[in-house]
Amino acid sequence: MERTFAIVKPDAFAAGHAGGIIAKIQESGLKLVAAKSLHLTEAQAKGFYFVHAERPFFGSLVTFMTEGPILAMVLEGENAIKRWRDLMGPTDATKAPKETLRGTYGTSIERNATHGSDAPETAAYEIGFFFSGLELA
Ligand code: RTP
Ligand code: MG
Repeated sequence: MERTFAIVKPDAFAAGHAGGIIAKIQESGLKLVAAKSLHLTEAQAKGFYFVHAERPFFGSLVTFMTEGPILAMVLEGENAIKRWRDLMGPTDATKAPKETLRGTYGTSIERNATHGSDAPETAAYEIGFFFSGLELA
């Protein structure tokens, strides 16, 4: 069993797609272990995406991630990290296959509807960033 961290980003949340995305998660067989909605501050968004701090798109990414509420989730299942990345599709929503979440709900390389951890180490960091042990029982 593996856990991964997922976000419905501000674009998809504001457009009312959180329910549709949760439905896809459940259809896929991944278990929704925990979920909470919150509006990130600038400092929180910078902390979450610290690995991208030197990238040219960092400022724009932080502005996007703080523009409205998100839905943060922990998903569980065998190979959960890869399965969730496959459901999301590639980063650039304009190139994502239509059946993927980013292909369905995203609109650009930045406004791409969802986030997913990319490795066990990042999943552990990201889950701990958003959820306490008590919330993950
Ligand atoms: P994520 O971390 O959000 O799941 O996305 P990812 O692994 O597919 O992509 P990553 O390289 O980690 O980038 C993080 C987020 O930054 C925005 N981005 N903008 N303007 C650009 O060229 C650009 N590149 C990336 C996206 O919102 C991307 O999901
Ligand atoms: Mg990433």
